[in-house]
Amino acid sequence: MNIAALLAAYKPGHSLGQAFYSDPGIFARDMEMLSGRWLCVGHVSELPTAGDWLTAELGRESAIVTRRADGEFSALANVCRHRGSRICTLPHGHGPTLTCPYHGWTYRLDGSLRRAPEMPEGFDPAAHGLLPLPLKIIGGLIFLSFADHPPAIEASAAALDAMARRHGWDTGKIAARKTYTIASNWKLAVENYHECYHCAGSHPEFSALHALARPGNRRIGSKDVESWGPAPDGNEVFRVMHSGLADGVLTGSRDGKALALPMGAAGGVDTLGPECVFAELGFLSAFLAYADYGVIYRFIPRKSLETEMEVIWLVRGDAEAGRDFDPAALTWLWDVTSAADKTIIENNQAGVLSRAYRPGPFSKMEAATRQYVERYVAELARLAP
Ligand code: FES
Ligand SMILES: [Fe+2]
Repeated sequence: MNIAALLAAYKPGHSLGQAFYSDPGIFARDMEMLSGRWLCVGHVSELPTAGDWLTAELGRESAIVTRRADGEFSALANVCRHRGSRICTLPHGHGPTLTCPYHGWTYRLDGSLRRAPEMPEGFDPAAHGLLPLPLKIIGGLIFLSFADHPPAIEASAAALDAMARRHGWDTGKIAARKTYTIASNWKLAVENYHECYHCAGSHPEFSALHALARPGNRRIGSKDVESWGPAPDGNEVFRVMHSGLADGVLTGSRDGKALALPMGAAGGVDTLGPECVFAELGFLSAFLAYADYGVIYRFIPRKSLETEMEVIWLVRGDAEAGRDFDPAALTWLWDVTSAADKTIIENNQAGVLSRAYRPGPFSKMEAATRQYVERYVAELARLAP
């Protein structure tokens, strides 16, 4: 597999060649590229008390995020410093320390080694702590990278932080989460997320509520960036887009009426009226915010032809299910939309695997997907030998 030659053959303005959506060698290279970027692994409300932890995976890498006794967070490589076992094997847990299941080495919540029985004279526990990973909390969202030196994130983080805080995400909490396992390469799942060319046909529920679904009817606020690519100072990629809602619609609900308690200042509604704000930071993490709830999209590549799409719904921190919102009503729109996306992405993958597949041209309504694909090609080219 000559990845450099395949990249050189890429025709701008088109979908990628078949190998990019199927070849295990390219998938391995993708994981190398993605592990060098920033990704969202959850929300601070998942770790409310000291000793809480969560794990996150990307390719061969796994991270533990802990809440320490001082209230701060640590991100640690989930690899024992004895002989390399995974330490935490569940998505979430709680305890005063982290204990390796293999021979029992025990680590503090900041990753320092607390106990390693029967080690010989001269063994230095201080030199055997869990490797720390870069971590950044942005408006309540937990981001980390598996690289020693990931791209700068400050400018992009400030922009996402402003959007998240305006919608009260920093004090919000998780109301629901669901994982959709998609039989496709991760890029087809992300590319689909970035365009609404398919919305009118595949998402009647979404299209009834969002102006975005209709060509030429997109509202871009004056301060907003709507492009992929690094922020001007070389920061991790960031994109935000304000999308107007249909007349009389306040939020993403069946009847357009509020579903939950308003979140953030003025319920996140700006002077131009109700909207849905879409944002992305890095290659695998996307966010959307209404006046009364938010949604996190996490794309998790598993295999060349398998991707998990985790959808997480956020509500105001003091909201109670049953009293302040109905979980079924809250999750209705983005569940029905995600389920439809799974089907169309899998259809897309089936066709792409055929010998008749040729890269095809993007429409005007697929500008963000085009930018995403071109950004991907540029990043992979930087790694290619
Ligand atoms: S590999 Fe973790 S204690 Fe041995
Ligand atoms: Fe879709």
